[in-house]
Amino acid sequence: MKNTPERYFNILKGVAGASIGQDIEADLADAFELGRLLVDQKVPPDEVTIIHHEALLQLACNQPNLRLAQVARNLTRPLMEMSMAYGLAFREQTDRRYQEIINDRLEQSRKLEAVGTLAAGIAHDFNNILGAIVGFAEMVGDDLPDGSIGKSNIQQILRASSRARDLIARMLAFASQSPVNPVSVDIVAEVRESIALLRGSLNPAVQIVLECELDTAFVLADPSQIQQIVMNLCINAADAMNDAGTINIRIEPARSNESALQESIESVCLSVADTGCGMAPEVMARVFDPFFTTKEPGKGSGLGLSVVYGIATQLGGAIEVRSRTSGDRAGTRFQVLLPLQSAQLTPE
Ligand SMILES: Nc1ncnc2c1ncn2[C@@H]1O[C@H](COP(=O)(O)OP(=O)(O)OP(=O)(O)O)[C@@H](O)[C@H]1O
Ligand SMILES: [Mg+2]
Repeated sequence: MKNTPERYFNILKGVAGASIGQDIEADLADAFELGRLLVDQKVPPDEVTIIHHEALLQLACNQPNLRLAQVARNLTRPLMEMSMAYGLAFREQTDRRYQEIINDRLEQSRKLEAVGTLAAGIAHDFNNILGAIVGFAEMVGDDLPDGSIGKSNIQQILRASSRARDLIARMLAFASQSPVNPVSVDIVAEVRESIALLRGSLNPAVQIVLECELDTAFVLADPSQIQQIVMNLCINAADAMNDAGTINIRIEPARSNESALQESIESVCLSVADTGCGMAPEVMARVFDPFFTTKEPGKGSGLGLSVVYGIATQLGGAIEVRSRTSGDRAGTRFQVLLPLQSAQLTPE
């Protein structure tokens, strides 16, 4: 940017001094190149006209004898060239960025799809093996007297197997291969029910506050999917706050920039916010990766958020996350956007 005003001034001086019929194409090409350069240098669009005006003023001061009528014809041409090049380069840059974002998302979903297929395969085979373990353990257990050491060991095997079964169910849910029976589910009622369940299992020092902008919000889903979303997000929130603090859950119409003016809404936004430790950018980048966890071994399988991601996308929705690790507004907010079963009128 340093030499740009000077370079543009020289272009303007060149075209202003050109006599009628003199070729000014080289100056115009230079102005065009300058326009592209301004985009590379991240100069904002209104700066382009400022550069032109300042060069004009400088020209008027340097050459007071220059008659406007004599130069007016040529003076706007460098500005037009520079603005045109700026516009084109700006558009190319925006297209490139947009493409990069799309490619990143595509790569993320391909990666998740590949892991999903693998997880589903493993889960399926493992389920069969587990069936045999549970079946034989139960048979052995039936033959052992109550209260014996052998019986209690078998019970340990069965408890561990039940945890493994739970894990498999989550892997299958993530791979979107668990059977789902989509019905019309009122998210508001389902979230209230999930909160009641959570209150029994979370530490009493964790408060859950629910704010609903909608009385009802029907989506096509399996009710257990909504419960899984709420449970996973709230358990993570409680963990992030070290089991003490407030979790804020909101249900509101999903608002895009234009939809603020719309009378009907097409999606509902379910958000879960905590005032916990937040996430560093490198954690946030991997948060939906299956088996990614920062918790101690045995405390987290790293499947919770990949299950939530799988459900949100399976239902035709999306999930977004914002997080801060420090400051007044430290904490994390997950937003799950789900399409409503049929567009619903916005509340007054
Ligand atoms: N609300 C949150 N605040 C801070 N970090 C979070 C939050 N939610 C998730 N994380 C981070 O994302 C990681 C992955 O979360 P995810 O729910 O997928 O797995 P997990 O909680 O570690 O294990 P699991 O849910 O399987 O028991 C967590 O280990 C944690 O580092
Ligand atoms: Mg979790």
